Amino acid sequence: MTLINTTPFQDQKPGTSGLRKKVRHFQQPHYLENFVQAIFNAVGGGQNGCLVVGGDGRYFNREAVQTIVAMAIANGYKEIIVGQGGILSTPAASCVIRKYKCSGGIILSASHNPGGPDEDFGIKYNGANGGPATEQLTDKIYAESCALTSYKLSAIEAIDLDLIGTLDVEGVKVRIIDSVSDYAELMESLFDFPAMRSLLSGGEFSFCFDAMHAVTGPYAKEILINRLGAPAESVINATPEEDFGGHHPDPNLVHAADLVSKVNQNGLDFGAASDGDGDRNMIIGNNFYVNPCDSLAVLAANATLIPGYAQGLAGVARSMPTSRALDRVAAAQGLNCYETPTGWKFFGNLIDDGRITFCGEESFGTGSSHVREKDGLWAVLCWLNILASTGESVASLMRNHWQNFGRDLFTRHDYEGLDSAQAAEMMKALDEKLTNLAGSNFDGFVVETADQFAYSDPVDGSVSQRQGVRILFTNGARIVVRLSGTGTSGATLRVYLDRFINEDLECDTQAALAPLSAVASKLIGVEAFTGRKAPDVVT
Ligand code: G1P
Ligand code: ZN
Repeated sequence: MTLINTTPFQDQKPGTSGLRKKVRHFQQPHYLENFVQAIFNAVGGGQNGCLVVGGDGRYFNREAVQTIVAMAIANGYKEIIVGQGGILSTPAASCVIRKYKCSGGIILSASHNPGGPDEDFGIKYNGANGGPATEQLTDKIYAESCALTSYKLSAIEAIDLDLIGTLDVEGVKVRIIDSVSDYAELMESLFDFPAMRSLLSGGEFSFCFDAMHAVTGPYAKEILINRLGAPAESVINATPEEDFGGHHPDPNLVHAADLVSKVNQNGLDFGAASDGDGDRNMIIGNNFYVNPCDSLAVLAANATLIPGYAQGLAGVARSMPTSRALDRVAAAQGLNCYETPTGWKFFGNLIDDGRITFCGEESFGTGSSHVREKDGLWAVLCWLNILASTGESVASLMRNHWQNFGRDLFTRHDYEGLDSAQAAEMMKALDEKLTNLAGSNFDGFVVETADQFAYSDPVDGSVSQRQGVRILFTNGARIVVRLSGTGTSGATLRVYLDRFINEDLECDTQAALAPLSAVASKLIGVEAFTGRKAPDVVT
């Protein structure tokens, strides 16, 4: 073991989901190593435990895996499990950590951000429960990173990441495992594979899953084609590439536009896509887009059709900006519904404590207690299981749901690449308005309450302050405003708009929310502070 002297970097504060920077930033001497050592210091070293290492296969993934293995050996881990080729989707990494009772894992991904030498890279730590490090731990990692003077490295030769098997490296067991099989087995234990197999291989139902040249390709092929008998052409863009084919591996109507037109033009029954590291999902029917908030609600409402959830849900949770469609299902079924800050790490305690089974976010994230990450392919399988059990189409399932529960119109408007100082000033000005806002009337929208969302974790009592501005109106509409915590340059403003309706259920979301959007622009002063007239991305 060699001790390498280093000096701290001041910019290694983890965001919503780990540390994300440009690849070149990570390639600076000692940058990656410092952060990895900060993680190991924060968790108290390897302590003869087992560490899982894997990533979404983006550019710099392999080099980073080699470095982390060499450092994990030097830091006292007894066993290291690596996905073949350095690949593990985020949900698969969570599954492997849990299955082999590891002490934690390091996941390399910048999620849906583009990959390549000039694009993004990311790294995050997940604990023994398989879930993202809590805020307390990420704060500790940051503090360690600011005080680092050296890191530990073993001078080992590069490992053959492609060869499945077990190596002995300086007395440490390094296992290269099949990246897919443990995860596929878990999925098979949850879903009604026989019913889904007859749907997918029967020839009447047609669908397309777009892996977006990212990590889910091999997982989708194994599960949908090999195990469920779907025709080979139903999984597209299934070979993971370091630059995701030059695209944004982001499953939404903008970046998965090819999938959308394929489903609509060819009259397919179902379409789905997942992101760079496989934790996000988008669901569409024929000429029918399912908003992720609605997807979470409809899955929760129909969960007992899925064998793994046949006994019912313990409770549910959603991130604060996510629409309240889930709350209506919970109320009808007598379930507790928790409202957490943005980011998957806040769901972990609730699941570990047995309080919830399903949870999700508006940002195309849906998941359950089966792992401690959101899970794109799992959400797709939930849908396919429910479609197989009910014989409904995507649109009819959703429409029936609205009939039963009413509809929560929802949209998110993103303003990207803002000047960070301008964005901070804009948020400060909004913050200062909040205390006197109740009772104000904006073109017929009367403010009921306005605050900065604070979350008290019911399990460990920790409090997370200032998790986004919430403005609720007396007519059931709501505006949420926050700055993104996952960007790698400048600032991104996210404005979330939602409103409950129980008539005119087929209305157009953007048109129906336009008056609320106008109120939001006025309140926030987007144009005055940033010069921007319209959002860059609308989902
Ligand atoms: C975004 C999403 C958030 C999600 C996170 C990681 O974070 O909004 O829901 O958990 O990515 O996938 P943000 O950039 O808004 O901080
Ligand atoms: Zn992701």
